Amino acid sequence: MVILVVGSGGREHAICWSLSKSKRNPKIYCAPGNAGIAQIAECLDILADDIPSLVKWANEHDPNLIVIGPEVPLCLGLADELLKDGFQVFGPTKDGAQMEGSKDFTKKILMENNIPTANARTFTDYKKALAYLRSQGAPIVIKADGLASGKGVTVCETLQQAETALDESMKKKVFGDAGAKVVIEEFLMGEEASILAFVDGESIVPMVSAQDHKRVFEGDKGPNTGGMGAYSPAPVITEKLSKEILEKILKPTLEALKKKGIIYKGVLYAGLMITKEGPKVIEYNCRFGDPETQVILPLLKTDLVNICMAVAQGKLSHLKIEWEESQAVCVVIASKGYPGSYPKGKIIEGLEKAVQNPETYVFHSGTVLEGEKTKTSGGRVLCVTGVGKTLRQAVEKAYRAVSDIRFEGAYYRKDIAWRALKSKHAGLHAKKD
Ligand code: AMP
Ligand code: GLY
Repeated sequence: MVILVVGSGGREHAICWSLSKSKRNPKIYCAPGNAGIAQIAECLDILADDIPSLVKWANEHDPNLIVIGPEVPLCLGLADELLKDGFQVFGPTKDGAQMEGSKDFTKKILMENNIPTANARTFTDYKKALAYLRSQGAPIVIKADGLASGKGVTVCETLQQAETALDESMKKKVFGDAGAKVVIEEFLMGEEASILAFVDGESIVPMVSAQDHKRVFEGDKGPNTGGMGAYSPAPVITEKLSKEILEKILKPTLEALKKKGIIYKGVLYAGLMITKEGPKVIEYNCRFGDPETQVILPLLKTDLVNICMAVAQGKLSHLKIEWEESQAVCVVIASKGYPGSYPKGKIIEGLEKAVQNPETYVFHSGTVLEGEKTKTSGGRVLCVTGVGKTLRQAVEKAYRAVSDIRFEGAYYRKDIAWRALKSKHAGLHAKKD
């Protein structure tokens, strides 16, 4: 069988790796891929948001399955175009992708259906937004409505910060059209966790929970990034909470989408805050998380090809999805300067040695192959995952492999999973309540 994966990050490397283990022995193509993906798939010179070229390639090569990794092609309607041509697609259509593409759309779905989330209001008029903001005070959260490469959310501790964020989004248009509409949202206190679920239009099957570290510096300080590391399962998500999240959040969300006539297929990713009043939705994403995927898929026992086909065909309920009773931790190695500007083209050494450690995986994010050499080409360069029976073992495996890898200006956080290691559940499998 032939599979096309769209994307070029660590998430797509983990997806290609998991698909490549399938008993169905697929031939995998990846558009555009990276140096790590090139070891297990044939990389295509087509960018992930080049919809016409992707559709053309699919029509010429007739893949049995197409897995779309990033949010941009999903929001641009890649799945819609491919479905029109009769392909089996893993990833929602444009209407479903609005769950990530418009914070206002998601907020309305949540509030209209009494799904727990932060109170919020949406504005397109700057003066009205400012008046509302002043009436609410700080702390408060300002969110650009549209896609802003993960930079559209500002958590404001003071009113001054909030007014600046509003001004930048609505008047200075730093996020372009994406920030012309803003959602002003109540600040939620608690611990964050991500629940990703497979959805086939009808049924919803949650994966093991995960938690990522968004801030660039140790102690969860500094600016937000795409994610500097993650672990799975997240000890904060007990078995009781998992059930509550499924019944009170995920299932009602799918019902709400169905009521709107949206047949959502792919991954629905709920970013949650576990507050004193219970779990509340912070955001939805319409795809696998990065770096959450790099800790979730190494724990998957079931054949990912079978899952993706079942999702595309609406047959998820026929499949039993099983997970290892282990823990996974990943550490992102980034280029110095990220999430600001950073150099590219640095030679990476030690990759072969790193993967010789047992139960250790190196997923490439921003890498390119130049001749025989693997070089850096992005802010997040590599994501190193360790799997162990306990969280502590997984952390040790990941960091042992990280210490084998070298490139000029390599930066990584040394405290990934610190919160979980301190938790009363540390070292235990999260299922123990
Ligand atoms: P998002 O891009 O929506 O995931 O938001 C980025 C980060 O902002 C989240 O991971 C949270 O840490 C934080 N955040 C977003 N919304 C809220 C909220 N209502 N209360 C507190 N923190 C939030
Ligand atoms: N790790 C956060 C995201 O994938 O959006």
